[in-house]
Amino acid sequence: MEEKLLMEVVPGLEGIPAAESAISYIDGEAGILEYRGITVETLAEKSDFLEVAWLLIFGHLPAKDELERWRNDITFHTRLKLKILRMMEYLPENGHPMHYLQAVTSAMGMYYPARDTLDAESRYWSAVRLIAKMPTIVAACERLKHGDAPIQPRNDLSFAANFYYMLFECEPTKLVEKIMDAMLTLHADHTMNASTFSARVVGSTLADPYTIVSSAIGTLSGPLHGGANEEVVHMIEEIGSKENVRPYIERKLEKKEKIMGIGHRVYRTRDPRGEVLKGFIRELAEHNAIDRNTLEISRELEAVVKEKLEAKQLHPNVDFYSGIVFKAIGIPTELFTPIFAMGRVAGWLAHWMEQLKTNRIYRPTQKYTGLRARLYIPVAER
Ligand SMILES: CC(C)(COP(=O)(O)OP(=O)(O)OC[C@H]1O[C@@H](n2cnc3c(N)ncnc32)[C@H](O)[C@@H]1OP(=O)(O)O)[C@@H](O)C(=O)NCCC(=O)NCCS
Repeated sequence: MEEKLLMEVVPGLEGIPAAESAISYIDGEAGILEYRGITVETLAEKSDFLEVAWLLIFGHLPAKDELERWRNDITFHTRLKLKILRMMEYLPENGHPMHYLQAVTSAMGMYYPARDTLDAESRYWSAVRLIAKMPTIVAACERLKHGDAPIQPRNDLSFAANFYYMLFECEPTKLVEKIMDAMLTLHADHTMNASTFSARVVGSTLADPYTIVSSAIGTLSGPLHGGANEEVVHMIEEIGSKENVRPYIERKLEKKEKIMGIGHRVYRTRDPRGEVLKGFIRELAEHNAIDRNTLEISRELEAVVKEKLEAKQLHPNVDFYSGIVFKAIGIPTELFTPIFAMGRVAGWLAHWMEQLKTNRIYRPTQKYTGLRARLYIPVAER
């Protein structure tokens, strides 16, 4: 019986624990997400992304001197080597930024050899470099796409403000800086998902961290993982005005089509990350920093979805609100998923290091359904 159960194939390994982990925790019914036991709402409000990254990776809130060194080390490793920038210049201008990010993080493994994954110092510096340089890569890629020269990082700005500066050559307002930072925090980890699993599988082979992160980026690039927030922006643009919301939703439901940014496999009552972002939309509206039409459409969408889908436990998710927030602060849609990766790299690194503590290379099995013992027929006789 036990053997039969073990040979049962569960599509997508849904519900099968792939590892023991003490990094993040979700209670889908209560709408809770915690990193190392602290709710994301608290961290988004009181902490910042770099401190959260430390918390995820090392398991505790950093002491003052640890945090100072961490911030300093990351701040002073944000620049890209000239050769890496040159390499980026040779990549196609219309390439997707996720491809750039994957290619460049992989190439970093040649510039910063870190094959001794059992050495704590080497792991520390790889984590610093990956977290520090991913925003610089994403911003450079956006600049190059428009034929502009990449902008050098500024060490006097916060991590989030520096990213914004490298994109737009101007500093963000305090509110936009806070939003950018919280966006990274809210995406930093989310228990066992496809890209995290991928990071753990590659990590279990003792591959170097640049290979691990580039493979996780590749996994995240698929539309079933990252990307629903881009669709939310397209949906709002397609709807066009508040009056069109109800007929749009009714049409979708009639045709049994999904409404983007609505529903979640795990969160059945509320998505805590979405709630934080909803608060930012309110603040943006108070500062007149969000386009009226977008605001009206999104509020009407929330109302109609509540009326029609709440009974099915379907609510707006993080992608619904992040799409609206990103649109409001002028982030190009193609960068939504790369920004997700800039935050999630903290989780991937944390899972890699956790994996190494009790490592056993992943080697699942399969249920063979093919033919056996076939005769080989020479090509002339086929
Ligand atoms: C996230 C998602 C895959 C979760 O799916 P799930 O929990 O497995 O839910 P199911 O696909 O089994 O759907 C359950 C029911 O809700 C409906 N439903 C789920 N999401 C819906 C949506 N976004 N719009 C309309 N109906 C939806 C389904 O049609 C189904 O209805 P039925 O019972 O009448 O057949 C799904 O909600 C979805 O595709 N949402 C839109 C994409 C999105 O925003 N993704 C980002 C998630 S962070």
